[in-house]
Amino acid sequence: MSLQPIDFMTLTPDVFSDFVTKNALLTAGDKTGCNTMTIGWGQLGSIWNVPVCTVYVRPERYTYAFMEKRGYFTVSIIPSDRRDIARICGSKSGREVDKAAQCGLTVAYGEGDAPYFEEAELVLVCKKLYAQDLAGSFVTDAGPIDKFYGKAGNWHRMYIGQVVAAYANQ
Ligand SMILES: Cc1cc2nc3c(=O)[nH]c(=O)nc-3n(C[C@H](O)[C@H](O)[C@H](O)COP(=O)(O)O)c2cc1C
Repeated sequence: MSLQPIDFMTLTPDVFSDFVTKNALLTAGDKTGCNTMTIGWGQLGSIWNVPVCTVYVRPERYTYAFMEKRGYFTVSIIPSDRRDIARICGSKSGREVDKAAQCGLTVAYGEGDAPYFEEAELVLVCKKLYAQDLAGSFVTDAGPIDKFYGKAGNWHRMYIGQVVAAYANQ
């Protein structure tokens, strides 16, 4: 089994579960350094007539600096029996530990030197198109939203990336 390029326009992901119940790792950086973290929020879809993947990153994440600095990011879906990877990458910070090394993940590089992991069952390589902070002033129904943000804000930054390549383990 190894990652092979696939036609991402024919992907039929389970859009409501792939980010939530599977182990999705958001990775950014390049050959000089990178970082990864577990994500539970994201969407796949279409805007501006291109296929996109949207992710949300709080500014205090170490990954945030890499997202800001680089023009590409990747989402690696790790097999669901590797919950240990999601737990480590979702609880430790790359400021303190090399999570890829600790998890035994093998880094590979896609377009724009975007880092991803060979152990993934699916990888999306995304070119950053648009970034914007979510903000309380735009909320129209706080119902499901309020509990994620304290009084000080701490809102996620949304990144919309054009999917430019995809790899699947076949
Ligand atoms: C299941 C799960 C989903 C997560 N989803 C997100 C997310 O979508 N956005 C985010 O900013 N943090 C998310 N986190 C938190 C980060 O993964 C976590 O804070 C991580 O340690 C940050 O690592 P870093 O400092 O190396 O970037 C999630 C954590 C878990 C366990």
